[in-house]
Amino acid sequence: MCDSCKPKFYITTPIYYPSDKLHIGHTYCTVATDAMARYKRLRGYDVMFLTGTDEHGQKIETRAKTAGITPQQFVDNIVTGEKGVLDLWKLMNISYDRFIRTTDDYHVEAIQKIFKKMYENGDIYKGTYKGMYCTPCESFWTESQLKDGKCPDCGRDCQPAEEEAYFFRLSKYAQPVRDLLTNTDFLEPRSRVNEMVNNFIDAGLEDLCVSRTSFTWGIPVDFDPGHVVYVWVDALFNYTTALGFMNDKYDDYEKYWPADVHFVGKEIVRFHSIIWPAMLMSMGMPLPKKVFGHGWLLLDGGKMSKSKGNVVDPYLLAERYGTDALRFFLLRSFPFGTDGNFSNELLISCINTDLANDLGNLVSRTVAMVQKYFGGKLDPDQFYNAAQDNELVTMAGSLHERYAAQMERYAFQNALSEIFAVISRANKYIDETAPWVLAKDEAKRARLACVMYHLLETVRICAGLLQPFMPDTSAEILRRIGAERSDWESLCKFGVLASDAQVTAGAVLFPRIDAAKELEALEALNTKPEEPKEDPLPEPLPPVSFDEFSKVEMTVVKVVACEKVKKSEKLLKFTLNDGTEQPRQILSGIAKYYEPEQLLGKTLVAVTNLPPRKMMGQESCGMLLSAERGDKLHLIMLDDAVPAGARLV
Ligand code: MSP
Repeated sequence: MCDSCKPKFYITTPIYYPSDKLHIGHTYCTVATDAMARYKRLRGYDVMFLTGTDEHGQKIETRAKTAGITPQQFVDNIVTGEKGVLDLWKLMNISYDRFIRTTDDYHVEAIQKIFKKMYENGDIYKGTYKGMYCTPCESFWTESQLKDGKCPDCGRDCQPAEEEAYFFRLSKYAQPVRDLLTNTDFLEPRSRVNEMVNNFIDAGLEDLCVSRTSFTWGIPVDFDPGHVVYVWVDALFNYTTALGFMNDKYDDYEKYWPADVHFVGKEIVRFHSIIWPAMLMSMGMPLPKKVFGHGWLLLDGGKMSKSKGNVVDPYLLAERYGTDALRFFLLRSFPFGTDGNFSNELLISCINTDLANDLGNLVSRTVAMVQKYFGGKLDPDQFYNAAQDNELVTMAGSLHERYAAQMERYAFQNALSEIFAVISRANKYIDETAPWVLAKDEAKRARLACVMYHLLETVRICAGLLQPFMPDTSAEILRRIGAERSDWESLCKFGVLASDAQVTAGAVLFPRIDAAKELEALEALNTKPEEPKEDPLPEPLPPVSFDEFSKVEMTVVKVVACEKVKKSEKLLKFTLNDGTEQPRQILSGIAKYYEPEQLLGKTLVAVTNLPPRKMMGQESCGMLLSAERGDKLHLIMLDDAVPAGARLV
């Protein structure tokens, strides 16, 4: 079928916050989305699979500041850096078609237009945002975000405070969104509908704050500088900007929108099933066909986090067990709609039972017997069917129907159960037909060939249907049994494999794991990330007299220009306004801590009566004051209201 005639399928994952490295829980939704995208491709759809990263916001700004780098450098490290988000999706064999970063220019430009459009149609208006403010962190928090009434970042007291902000008229859309949730299958699983309607809509929908002025790491509201677009308008519209909505980067909006399904974790169902449709209604855009809220992988019944040690590190797990085993485990062990308790025991037992015992054994026994009894190729003229075969042939021949019915409901676990029921049946068939007994009798050769063919064909169908879950393993199994076809049509029929297909042996697909030993080894590896240690305080200095101290001239300066000094890794060259007519040049060894453009316009303090000295052939007239502890350094910055030339006394 030509590409443009194919039915379309547009599926998305949430875009991830690159504020920390991802753990195995984060891979859950993306692996599920990948399995669905591969399944739909197998079914002949033209699939668009979108994923990406949600890179703005106060949390990232604060983390970057603590790390002494720019927010852009901070997110770049986590997205494109070693073992970052992109590396992780490569490791997990994620076949996304497009990756969006909310810092991409085309997205930024489109969000500004979208914000303006909602403002112009009256759904965004200016008001006052009230919250709890932490002055040292310069952060607003809601009451529910506070930890024991204190700032969740630094643990200090917060004060009630207000700031000017734009709001989206969410309340206006309460009724149409309620109708959407209650009268259609827009949100699944159905259990999540009651939660949304009772806890949020019927409890009274308040308008939503969609801009902030207390931090700057966000998309600027172009018609009101000082405001940045706050989180959800920026994040949710990624699903449309990545197709080219309100930008020229892509031209796929008409082709793929509305999305067929957004897969999202349960804690962001509210944003996707209430705020997202309301915003689309405001924009006059078609609504996605479905939002599916999946459960969480828990660790010891609680929230998973990297700080719980590297038993949840996807790199460590994939290295020990293989990517396919990990992908399989995630979708085989837990129903997609509800929470599941992750444990290393469960992972090992899933690999041993399903993959080593059932699937691995079926493939290796079948291949080994075809090799042993037929030299790797059956004789097509000698086939003898028996009633004993009927159950397996019917079960394997109709597997695609039961499998597809489950896949269409996003019931991955059930779809896999259907495949494994056939695998079990095939293993039982080996015991029932006892090929090693048939092999002893030359007169039963045709019967033996037929048994082996039924096994090979069952393996082909099962491996073919496992392709969305374990792409590499499936390809390897199909290669070993000499299958030329694994397209959907061929998986709907029993008897497609050429009867003289060449079968090849290979290494054990899934070696059995000694659970006790492995758990011990994991325990030994389970180093938890070290708590950041406070750097020791510097040694106190001997006292100085007041007279000595007051001889130091400390002057307020403004940064007029700043650039890196060529051939120096350490030095930045500043041109400063020190209140006199003459610009002052100072060189400072802080290039490791700041990007020049970060410092433009900043108000700093310089010691201005030191003798000039030359550094890298350039003159430096003074020294900028900074605070240092351990390997961190911060320039002393003053309120911009302090004028250049003011003297510190
Ligand atoms: N940036 C938002 C999403 C915006 S979508 C327009 C966000 N990012 S996140 O990085 O915090 O989470 C991304 C996804 O990972 C969410 O769907 C979340 O539910 C999922 N998970 C995070 N931890 C998880 C588990 N332990 N288990 C399963 N999914 C988990 O939310």
